[in-house]
Amino acid sequence: MTIRAVVKGVGHYLPARTVPNSEFEGKVETSDEWIRARTGIERRHFAAEGETTSDLGAAAARAALADAGLEADALDAIIVATSTPDLTFPSVATMVQAKIGMTRGFAFDVQAVCAGYVYALANANALILSGQARRVLVIGAETFSRILDFTDRSTCVLFGDGAGAVVLEAVGGTGTTEDRGILSTDLNSDGSYRDLLYVDGGVSTSGTAGHLRMQGNQVFRHAVEKLAETAHTALAKVGLDGGDVDWIVPHQANIRIIEGTAKRMQVPMERVVVTVQDHGNTSAASIPLALSVGKERGQIKEGDLLVTEAIGGGLAWGSVVLRW
Ligand code: UT7
Repeated sequence: MTIRAVVKGVGHYLPARTVPNSEFEGKVETSDEWIRARTGIERRHFAAEGETTSDLGAAAARAALADAGLEADALDAIIVATSTPDLTFPSVATMVQAKIGMTRGFAFDVQAVCAGYVYALANANALILSGQARRVLVIGAETFSRILDFTDRSTCVLFGDGAGAVVLEAVGGTGTTEDRGILSTDLNSDGSYRDLLYVDGGVSTSGTAGHLRMQGNQVFRHAVEKLAETAHTALAKVGLDGGDVDWIVPHQANIRIIEGTAKRMQVPMERVVVTVQDHGNTSAASIPLALSVGKERGQIKEGDLLVTEAIGGGLAWGSVVLRW
């Protein structure tokens, strides 16, 4: 019998404070008009003082567990995708484990920046398929507002804070693409592009948290090409193509990247879940946020074929095909 990692519940959390584009006008040389036109972003959420990535992740985790109808101790593992941990260590995942009252199993973080959630899903899938875990909570949680340089207009207007989570459970399948659950994954990285998107500080260099630096137009160029390619690859692994897809649930960095990728995949925008206008780029949290909001809006329904794709610092990129 084929084992599938099937979505049992989904949830999200956004910090209370909404920051409209207009808040950046006057602080840096920018305008609401420029930000909307070039990125599609209208607003984003910023965590309150003292509110940490594990707080956001735990809130999303509680929502996903409630949606699944499960207690925390029903989980075998927690994986948190994040690049903005509360502390250098311990992991955000163990902090979430304590906050939600999970007293068994194991928890760890993965760090692949904006591609983090795709990497986390692929790892959760591997744990489930290999029999090491039956239920895995996969969280994407970020407080990118903490690493922004608010004097740099080319980056500070782009990012936001938030968290999303999915409970995956081992379920027997038939081995066909009609099964619910994760059907295929595709992960890639190329460390030679390190300077395109990085943080200029860290434990073993400056000893500081540092600030995000990005050559945006260079990343943009790679994004459309590599995202369409990885989505095609993941679909082709199980004999599917863009025509089979009910929803693309993309990383939400820029509406022009989202549109360009959908066009290359020959999927109309009516079949793309878009949240970038409300969340900005929340890095590893953007895909689970979009999954949760997409379900809440009534877009994503049980049985739908989804493809998620993401790219970010590394460069690291990848995609996951799953039937909801
Ligand atoms: O999630 C991780 C992956 N990251 C991404 O996917 C981000 C990918 N990149 C992007 O989304 C876009 O490249 C940006 C939104 C970052 C920038 O858009 P662009 O169309 O690529 O603009 P650009 O970087 O080529 O800059 C065009 C102009 C420049 O001015 P000059 O040199 O033409 O005079 C920038 O200085 O826009 C200027 N600019 C701004 N103007 C007003 C850059 N940021 C701003 C701003 N407000 N906030």
